[in-house]
Amino acid sequence: MRKQKQSVSVKIKVGLSGSSGRMGGAVKELIGKRNSGFVLVEQAPPLKAFDGWNKQRVEGVIDFSSPELFKMALRWSLENKKPFVSGTTALGVSHKKLLALASHKIPVFYEENMSWGIWQIKRWINNVSEQPCDILLEDIHHKNKKDKPSGTALKLQKHFPSFARKKLKIKSIRKGREFGTHRIYFKSSEEVVLVEHRALSRLLFAEGALRALKWLVKKPPGLYSFEDLYMK
Ligand SMILES: NC(=O)c1ccc[n+]([C@@H]2O[C@H](COP(=O)([O-])OP(=O)(O)OC[C@H]3O[C@@H](n4cnc5c(N)ncnc54)[C@H](OP(=O)(O)O)[C@@H]3O)[C@@H](O)[C@H]2O)c1
Repeated sequence: MRKQKQSVSVKIKVGLSGSSGRMGGAVKELIGKRNSGFVLVEQAPPLKAFDGWNKQRVEGVIDFSSPELFKMALRWSLENKKPFVSGTTALGVSHKKLLALASHKIPVFYEENMSWGIWQIKRWINNVSEQPCDILLEDIHHKNKKDKPSGTALKLQKHFPSFARKKLKIKSIRKGREFGTHRIYFKSSEEVVLVEHRALSRLLFAEGALRALKWLVKKPPGLYSFEDLYMK
């Protein structure tokens, strides 16, 4: 008798927090592509959806939501010992503390901006040398974005050396359907340097989160970011 070929699924089973949102839609679109390597098994909202999530099915959680839903998703991941990836912005100090506490027990990945390009810019501005010039950081996003300045703008600000941070000005613009543009101008009377990052699609951020989860499922408990994924 001919042996039947066994198809072994190696897809990572994802629980998605913020599934009805714009980013949730982008994550679902990528997961749904052939050979994505992921399958969606649980979704939230509503908040109470977590009570019904099946611990045996979910292998990792991705969260792009709001501080409230983020908290529920993190709690579920911690209680059920699942890797947790979040890109939710506007988190307060207390939320960041929860991430740090959870990372003692589960692998946690957090990035305000899941794009490779922004990560490259962070590395560059880390090394900016002292220069008498004005520094302006522009953050341009769609009109429904809730936080202002963007999480990315605040994160970029932290990456400047302290002399530059002191003179840095942030200007936030909310208009139309912009997925996210960040521009940094260094201006003196003799020269202008402009660094620009433009997200052309939300799929960019969804892709970063899926890449992070694929990497994270093999990691021990800890608090990770792109620094760890790309550099170590
Ligand atoms: N890290 C990155 O690269 C990156 C990139 C883009 C966006 N973001 C961030 O990702 C987050 C989501 O962005 P988005 O544009 O997808 O936002 P959105 O369209 O407003 O979606 C938010 C999602 O969270 C759910 N939600 C929010 N508060 C809730 C609550 N109290 N109870 C139940 N469900 C709740 C919403 O459910 P309903 O549909 O029921 O409202 C929806 O599913 C934001 O923080 C944004 O800044 C991060």
